[in-house]
Amino acid sequence: MRSMSDDHTHVQEFFAARAADWDTRFPDDGPAYAAAVAALGLREGDRVLDAGCGTGRALTPLRAAVGPSGQVLGVDLTPEMLEAAARAGRGRDGRLLLADVAALPLRTESLDAVFAAGLIAHLSHPAENLRELARVVRPGGLLALFHPIGRATLAAHQGRQITPDDLRAESNLGPLLAASGWRMTSYVDEDARFLALAVRED
Ligand SMILES: C[S@@+](CC[C@H](N)C(=O)[O-])C[C@H]1O[C@@H](n2cnc3c(N)ncnc32)[C@H](O)[C@@H]1O
Repeated sequence: MRSMSDDHTHVQEFFAARAADWDTRFPDDGPAYAAAVAALGLREGDRVLDAGCGTGRALTPLRAAVGPSGQVLGVDLTPEMLEAAARAGRGRDGRLLLADVAALPLRTESLDAVFAAGLIAHLSHPAENLRELARVVRPGGLLALFHPIGRATLAAHQGRQITPDDLRAESNLGPLLAASGWRMTSYVDEDARFLALAVRED
């Protein structure tokens, strides 16, 4: 059986190998990230976490949404991804922090929202991790689970079929979120994007 640290090593090795050219592989994603951030409806002064921020591609639109009085934090498990984020100057838009979403060094209910792009499929314990994200968000706060391409397109790129047990299928994700302190409020899975929004239950 794989232990939690084996899972982490696997994730870190996978993304460490891809960190240096992550942004150049996906040069046209900017508008999709900006649109997904806009869907969160952040306000000036809000506190927002980019969970699994990678090279920090969402940090600039997140900062633009919350303004200079807001707080933007990018958390990732893979040092090489955060180093690439720092090299790209993303540390100007948000604080970069090496941490696991399984155990965030953040106070309970200290955030207004969480943005997570491309994260959920890489979590070995999604229910527990989504619960930890719920812990750090205030009741009524928001979660966006985003991917710049939809499930079917992604599966085709990866040469696989979507199976009914896919975590991000609407029929699986709704109950998973509900069991983790979130209520799913919208779900879009189309060629050009995957975006599920949820609100933190009281
Ligand atoms: C597909 S990449 C997406 C990166 C970035 N959000 C983007 O959209 O470009 C997934 C990221 O999640 C991070 N990650 C995976 N598991 C994590 C965990 N348990 N805690 C924090 N970050 C994690 C990986 O290191 C990787 O940088």
